[in-house]
Amino acid sequence: MNVVSNDGSVVALVPAAGRGVRLGESTPKAFVAVGGTPMVRLAVDGLIASGAVDRVIVMVPAEFVDSAVALLPPSDSVRVVVGGAERVDSVRVGIAAAPDAGYFLVHDAARALTPPALIARVAAELRAGKPAVVPALPVVDTIKSVDALGGVTGTPDRAGLRAIQTPQGFAAGLLRDAYVAEGVAATDDAGLVELLGTRVHTIPGDPLAFKITTPLDLLLAHAVLDGADIRRAVGRT
Ligand code: CTP
Ligand code: MG
Repeated sequence: MNVVSNDGSVVALVPAAGRGVRLGESTPKAFVAVGGTPMVRLAVDGLIASGAVDRVIVMVPAEFVDSAVALLPPSDSVRVVVGGAERVDSVRVGIAAAPDAGYFLVHDAARALTPPALIARVAAELRAGKPAVVPALPVVDTIKSVDALGGVTGTPDRAGLRAIQTPQGFAAGLLRDAYVAEGVAATDDAGLVELLGTRVHTIPGDPLAFKITTPLDLLLAHAVLDGADIRRAVGRT
């Protein structure tokens, strides 16, 4: 395993350098506000509130470094770096910025409402010795594979499928090894770890850890926060 050095600390890497094309706002997605607070701030606050994270490294578009520093909590434990063209490039930058990490939690800014308790559970599994841990939810839709023309080629048994969320947790050396190859492509970090032959462990995810991808997701996120505000206002939390 590619261990540089390991101080046992949990370092959260927050990819926030995407453009948010599917959301369609004029601002990069991580800087779009939900309930008045930019998603990247909500995500970082959740990581800190988990009590399980020692340091946070946030990857943002180059022209958003200053605004990210201004809107994130002023703390020596929170660092902003310039991300890359693809998500994997952004994560690679984050990994390189934390050579002494013991564990990594890779957590999308777009999963802004992730409950701190879920973050703490992923970190606890890592500390208990699991090398790779991802939150997973049962799939509610029937999933089909299709060919290039849209013809159905198969219907995998839904009972054996899961929708995977973040934070995804890894022993630091394992994630470094997974990212050694340049030009790797995967829609999540665990996918790269799986290519190494390491068994990835799932824990129950949380519906609130959904990824804000489309305008409908943003509407849902607003509603969740509004609902929480109203419940607090009437003393029902
Ligand atoms: N991300 C990143 N660097 C990139 C691309 C994505 O750090 N080059 C981050 C996004 O900011 C987001 C997370 O990865 O927090 C998940 O990606 P996604 O939901 O696809 O966000 P975007 O890439 O911004 O959205 P879209 O694909 O619709 O453009
Ligand atoms: Mg994207």
